Amino acid sequence: MILFKKSRDLHDFLKEKRRRDIPVGFVPTMGALHAGHISLIGESRKKGGLTVCSIFVNPTQFNDSKDFDQYPYTLEKDIDGLEAAGCDVLFLPSVKEMYPEGLKNLPHFDLGFLETVLEGKFRPGHFQGVCQVVERLLKMVQPQFLYLGQKDFQQCMVISKLVEIMGIDTRVVICPTQRESDGLAMSSRNLRLSPSEREQAVYIHKTLRFLRQELKPGYLDDMKERAIQYLAAEGFRVDYVEIAEAETLKPVTHWDGSTPLVALIAAFINEVRLIDNLLLQDSH
Ligand code: PAJ
Repeated sequence: MILFKKSRDLHDFLKEKRRRDIPVGFVPTMGALHAGHISLIGESRKKGGLTVCSIFVNPTQFNDSKDFDQYPYTLEKDIDGLEAAGCDVLFLPSVKEMYPEGLKNLPHFDLGFLETVLEGKFRPGHFQGVCQVVERLLKMVQPQFLYLGQKDFQQCMVISKLVEIMGIDTRVVICPTQRESDGLAMSSRNLRLSPSEREQAVYIHKTLRFLRQELKPGYLDDMKERAIQYLAAEGFRVDYVEIAEAETLKPVTHWDGSTPLVALIAAFINEVRLIDNLLLQDSH
């Protein structure tokens, strides 16, 4: 694996590959890599061509400075994991490299409705930050394929919209959420859970499964309310439990029995905020 810290060097390297028509797959990350991230590298490798991963803890997408300060950093282990997974290139820029003009007056992206609900509502500015960094990364890497995890369902939609806004020829590939054996979605933030919090964390996935089980045409409010109460009883501070149209993220209060739905949860265990989602008509 080749490591680049400067975008110019990365750009020159990739330009040469592009000249030889080698397709590039890109996996942007913030490090503290786990099997979920590595599965994205695997998906890219399946396509052939070159796989580029970036590790950059992007300051502009953290609306909570404590969350940023406490974001786990495991670089050596990450590099070993990427090598073992067969990643070709690691881009490891500094903040100065990504934002040479500083962190103020960065561009604003018109994300419309998407930014007004769920993560957009509870983490103001978060998706602007995601777009600010991903736009720059996409310009630097110019990938044919961009691999994202369904774990961050709304982020997949936001980045797909960004790709549309940028008018670039990159295909977004959404990959399934990787889970621990008890169902907890893998997340870098899981590293911050104590053993007892880790046990508690599984209730997010259990609640999503409860929603899938209970789903039937008609009003959904009662189901959502029961899910919130279930999580609260298990000691969570719930930001939201929502059932939304899987294609638009519009909240659904009354289900017609056929529109594809996704259930989404964001909840705190003490200081740690976890998110997860489940497509409700999926059988697995
Ligand atoms: P990060 O949280 O490091 O996630 C990087 C990628 O890994 C994202 O596409 C995310 O959805 C995916 N991922 C995380 N957990 C996963 C899991 N359990 N299964 C499958 N995929 C999973 O998301 C970000 O970083 C940042 O916002 C970023 C896009 C890099 C912009 O800074």
